[in-house]
Amino acid sequence: MSDCRPGLPVFSMTLKRIAKMNESITWISRKVVIVGAGAVGSTFACALAMSGTADEIVLLDANRDLAQGQALDLAHGQPFFPPVQIREGGNADYADAHLIVLTAGAKQQSGESRLELLQRNALIVRDIVGEIVLQNSPAVLLVVTNPVDVLTYLARKQSAWPRGRVIGSGTVLDSARFRYLLSQHCGVDAHNVHAYMLGEHGDSEFPAWSLTHIAGVPIEQYCPRCAKCEDGKAVHGRIAEAVKRSAYHIIDYKGATNFAVGLALVRIAGAILRNEHSVLTVSTVLQGEYGLSDVSLGVPCIVSQQGVERILSVSLRRNEQDALAACADILRDAIARLG
Ligand SMILES: NC(=O)c1ccc[n+]([C@@H]2O[C@H](COP(=O)([O-])OP(=O)(O)OC[C@H]3O[C@@H](n4cnc5c(N)ncnc54)[C@H](O)[C@@H]3O)[C@@H](O)[C@H]2O)c1
Repeated sequence: MSDCRPGLPVFSMTLKRIAKMNESITWISRKVVIVGAGAVGSTFACALAMSGTADEIVLLDANRDLAQGQALDLAHGQPFFPPVQIREGGNADYADAHLIVLTAGAKQQSGESRLELLQRNALIVRDIVGEIVLQNSPAVLLVVTNPVDVLTYLARKQSAWPRGRVIGSGTVLDSARFRYLLSQHCGVDAHNVHAYMLGEHGDSEFPAWSLTHIAGVPIEQYCPRCAKCEDGKAVHGRIAEAVKRSAYHIIDYKGATNFAVGLALVRIAGAILRNEHSVLTVSTVLQGEYGLSDVSLGVPCIVSQQGVERILSVSLRRNEQDALAACADILRDAIARLG
């Protein structure tokens, strides 16, 4: 006897249709290849695994034992974070990666500026980008190795990929430091502080005060109402200087920076892997935006699965526009030294 309960035949037809649809869906795994399994690469790998954003994390390093050890160590944490494949890999892994994050290379020593790393790291980046191109990778390439803006420019030029697909971590970390210091000073949750450092990830970077607001209140209006500030201008100057000096202080204390940069990279990776269209100050090659060309630096960009989908041309104050142009001059000088 047939079951004549109302609704059941419709329900089983729907189930059949869903089963048929599932057969035709191909599972696309979000694969992230991290080149360089040192302090930055391994911290990023751990934070990425915990975020649940990637399905596969592959670690590569010139020191294969290090990559193998880091991958094993992290994989043993699998019961404590969302499922993700973690392993050491090789150049063939570039071929089907969604995102390649380049953290390989020398790091700053105490007192050394990022630009001083240029010649050493340019050779490394050239080699790695050459391999990535050979593998015909469809990935977005995210450069982290310093000096990040110059090396992003180099990687984009060498790959000849569309400019949006080769991006640098830019001033995403510096903007987080800026937001943290402002939040500490104002006694407000850092999530309610919206602020950007722009330009070079390095000594010439600057805060865009014209874009800074706390819960929608522009900083110029917020400061006079806040009893904490007697001399807002002096405080602003001190905060901007503290942001610029952050890496130097941390490197003096412990030899490297890794936690905040690892988290900044998860933020950028998430925007790409989840197609978020997030506004982030990644480093991107300018072609006339802000009146600047032939240089890569940190400006607000819309970041999605294609990498930089669009550069936001926000109107800056005259002194901010001048500061951006000064960053561009310094970076173009460094690019010229690459020969
Ligand atoms: N952009 C940023 O915001 C930011 C922040 C912090 C550090 N960094 C930069 O990131 C880079 C890495 O820093 P770290 O502290 O992880 O250094 P690290 O020395 O701990 O690790 C670097 C790793 O790169 C590997 N490596 C070197 N050449 C390689 C090659 N050709 N192929 C594959 N692997 C190679 C080394 O074996 C090493 O394990 C440095 O250039 C540093 O200045 C950038």
